[in-house]
Amino acid sequence: MKILGIESSCDETAAAVVEDGRKVLSSVVASQVDIHALYGGVVPEIASRAHTEAICTVVNEALEKANLTLDGIDAIAVTYAPGLIGALLTGLSFAKGLSYSTGIPLVPVHHIRGHIAANYVASPELKPPFIALVVSGGHTSLIKVKNYTEFETVGITRDDAAGEAFDKAARVLGLPYPGGAMMDKLAAEGDKKRFPFTVSKVHDCPFDFSFSGLKTAVINLVHTMEMRGEEIDGALKADIAASFTKAAVKTVSRGVEALYAEGEKLPLVLSGGVAANSHLRSALKAFTEKIGVGFYVPPLSLCGDNALMIAAQGYYEFSEGKRAPLNQNAFACMEA
Ligand code: KG4
Ligand code: ZN
Repeated sequence: MKILGIESSCDETAAAVVEDGRKVLSSVVASQVDIHALYGGVVPEIASRAHTEAICTVVNEALEKANLTLDGIDAIAVTYAPGLIGALLTGLSFAKGLSYSTGIPLVPVHHIRGHIAANYVASPELKPPFIALVVSGGHTSLIKVKNYTEFETVGITRDDAAGEAFDKAARVLGLPYPGGAMMDKLAAEGDKKRFPFTVSKVHDCPFDFSFSGLKTAVINLVHTMEMRGEEIDGALKADIAASFTKAAVKTVSRGVEALYAEGEKLPLVLSGGVAANSHLRSALKAFTEKIGVGFYVPPLSLCGDNALMIAAQGYYEFSEGKRAPLNQNAFACMEA
């Protein structure tokens, strides 16, 4: 069964064709990073306009690369939530039009479920149940994946997402948007013990996360140094990046460790843009090895937003009979 996936929830316009949820026939991603880098972050209206300009070309390219026309597509899977509302509506409206005009069924896919499904493509042997840790620019969630379409959220960020904290820390250090990947490299060169940032703990739920305190702490540290006239040179930046990364990784792993401390035995499956972070990958790999549970993480190319993850999850949703009506709406929030 061949599924055309369409993704436009943030700053990537993407389309892909995936067969039976696991075999990638094509994947095209048009990134808007260069446009938003001028502003130091994603500008929602600009994102919507750029999606509108790119979507036709991206979908056509995905079909061409898969050597298919729409006649060969069994279902169209599209991200309907969560994300920037104008950006989501661009992809969803396009997909609805395509479905209405061709009669190809439309399947709504939750973006977070998509991130998790990137692992089905990366690891063909992976099957639920497992524990998914989704860490991205907009989300930090610990989810029990009971089967391909049944999910139970175990922990969630109470404020900012991990990626938001990485991006703001990068911005205050003068790194270009999106700064996560550069923070990763810089952190490898610095002294992680130089600035002992507090690792937050959510008292009433040990599996929840909080990143706003860490984000504010790194911003305040840099602003205070600037006010004192201290020169923030390359070595100092690396020490700040390393210290911040250490605390961010600890914030994420503390929630994971708390869950496994309760006797959880299911494998851990990492996904989302921040899953590309080398320090987080190695910390979680070491932890899962230590306690003897499986660990899955997609290659770097499948961590960020793409449409093959939407097509992969779309296959399982479609197989379970999920369909989007033509009045399907988009939702900005996580709970949709
Ligand atoms: O999943 P994603 O592409 O978009 C959302 O769904 O939010 O995640 C993007 C986020 C950005 O915040 C970016 O800075 C972060 O992932 N990111 C990283 C790394 N690569 C990307 N954060 C830390 N280390 C990295 N290597
Ligand atoms: Zn994402």
